[in-house]
Parts: sequence; structure tokens; C-alpha cells
Amino acid sequence: MKKTRILTGITTTGIPHLGNYVGAIRPTVIASKNKEVESFYFLADYHALIKSQDAKRVNESRLEIAATWIAAGLDVDNAIFYRQSDLPEIPQLTWLLTCICAKGLMNRAHAYKAAVADNQSANNEDLDAGITMGLFSYPILMTADILMFNADLVPVGRDQIQHLEMARDLAQRFNFLYKKDFFTLPEAQIDENVAVLSGLDGRKMSKSYDNTIPLFVDEKKLLKLVRKIKTNSLEPGEPKDPNEGTLMQIYTAFASEAEVADLKAKYLDGISWGEVKDILFEKLNAELGDAREKYKELILRPDYIEDILQTGAKRARAIATPFMQELREAVGIRNF
Ligand code: TRP
Repeated sequence: MKKTRILTGITTTGIPHLGNYVGAIRPTVIASKNKEVESFYFLADYHALIKSQDAKRVNESRLEIAATWIAAGLDVDNAIFYRQSDLPEIPQLTWLLTCICAKGLMNRAHAYKAAVADNQSANNEDLDAGITMGLFSYPILMTADILMFNADLVPVGRDQIQHLEMARDLAQRFNFLYKKDFFTLPEAQIDENVAVLSGLDGRKMSKSYDNTIPLFVDEKKLLKLVRKIKTNSLEPGEPKDPNEGTLMQIYTAFASEAEVADLKAKYLDGISWGEVKDILFEKLNAELGDAREKYKELILRPDYIEDILQTGAKRARAIATPFMQELREAVGIRNF
């Protein structure tokens, strides 16, 4: 029987933070070891161009993110780990899909609508001001990423559900127009159990709120950031609610059940916030220390990372190249 195919992409922008680690990196690293499924993980660097025209940053970010995933333990022998831009088939498929995609479908995409809404609230006469075709049609590129490998399941955050619906829509339309089930209809896989972390200010940890703790900051900086996490003003000796607050929430995402129970008891006994912060720092430092060292080594060995990605690209293209050939034939782009 054909194994289930799981595929997900990571847009290569910004520096991964603790929230990314708990929400995406850690579960993916675990999933990458599963031999019962075929998994595909890729660096979505074409997607990065939608957000940044700073070539140096684009390139650095790809390296940093690749090093992060490898340092965190991604099983690159089992899973296929590649760079989107190493597959010329992806933009080819994107175009085939663009030509059957109703413009109205893209008008409804959240990212585009949010950009239009920003122009509206800024009283901009041109509602499309500053919006590129890359941003407008990026769900089609994402669809190509997914359909290229006929992925069954696509682990994503809630904000991506709409894109999966669009991918199904386009897959169906292509299959109908070209009269064959070329594409599997993919499904979003949303993990309800994965923790969403709060950031320094108590809001969701997110680059856009500037409240993150970067995953591999050095020890000193990590301690400094943990000390910055917002608490209430209860004094040492006063009992504290063990079921709320960012400190306990982050601790819970890293500590064992017994350790959490232990800290909860200390909350009721009136532990000071300073001590809780020390405990959280120690835990994070212990959990992330090895990966941080590995990351530091990897980032100095771009050739080694390049090799891993080239191997991944080869494995991915072994699937994508013949499939693309079949699709080209199907749409009438063939040799005479
Ligand atoms: N758009 C996704 C995000 O911002 C990243 C992504 C690109 C992706 N291509 C994909 C995710 C294909 C899953 C499948 O998170």
C-alpha cells in the first residue's frame, strides 16, 4: 500500500523563536523520524521573496533556518529535506495552476485581503498600493508545493487552512479539465495539542509583536530575556496562581509533568518571580543547550548543509521531474 505523504514548508524569513520551536519545529522533528509515512520538509525560499528583496538577508535566512532544523534533530535521512528553489518544477507547476485559477479565488485570500484592508484604513486611494503579484497569487505557489508531491496531509497553523482549501480547489479543477486524477486532494493537519506560547509581554509570541525569545540566543541573552517576561506584582511569600502566567506556560512546554507539579506547589508556597525565572532559564538552557552548540557549529559549515540540501533536492526531483513531464504532456506542452 502507498504510504501516506506528509509535506510542509517553512518560509525562510526571520529568526526562529521558542514559539516556532514548540509549535512547529519540535513536532516536525519527531514526525520526521516516522518510518510509516513519507515526509517532505522544505525551505520555502521562493515564498521568502514575497516578503524581502534584501538578497543578503534572504540567503542568510535560508542558511539559518536550515541549520536550525538540522540542529534540532530533523531526520534528514528518513524525511526528504530540500530547498524549494532547487526544484525548477515548482515554478513550472505554479504557472500551469495559475492559468486555471480564477482571479476571484485569489481576491478572497486572507493575506491579500489584509493588505487591502491596511490600504483602506490608511485612506489610500489605490487599494492595491504596495501589493505585488507575488503576495496576491502566493496561494498558487503554495498549491504547487503541495500538489507536486501529491501530499495527503499538510501540517500547518490555522492561518493556513484557507490555502489548503484553495489547493484542493485547484487540484480538482486541474483533474477535471485534463480528465484524469493527476492530483490527490490534500488535507490540512492541525494539531490541537501543540502549545501556543506567549511572549515577553504576555501576548502570543510572534515576530510581529516583537516579543519573542529567539531559539538559539546565547546563555547570557537568554537569561536577560527570561528576566524580562511580564508577571504580576505579587511579592515573594505571597501565594501565586499556578495556572496562569507566561512563565508557567513556557515552563510547561519544556518540563516533565513531575517538574511542573513541583513548580506549581512552589507557586502556592509563595516562590518569588525572580526564582521562577531562574528555574525557567535553567530548564530552557538545559533543553536547548546541545542544539544551540550544534547550531553554532553548523552555521560555520555551509558546505555541509548545502550537501544535505542537494541530496534532498535529488530525492525530491526523482519524484517531481517525471511527474512534471506527465503534467506537461497533459496540458499539451509536448515534443512534436
Ligand atoms: N505559507 C506557509 C506559511 O507561511 C509556508 C508554506 C509554503 C507551506 N509552502 C507550503 C506550508 C506548502 C505547507 C505546504 O507558513
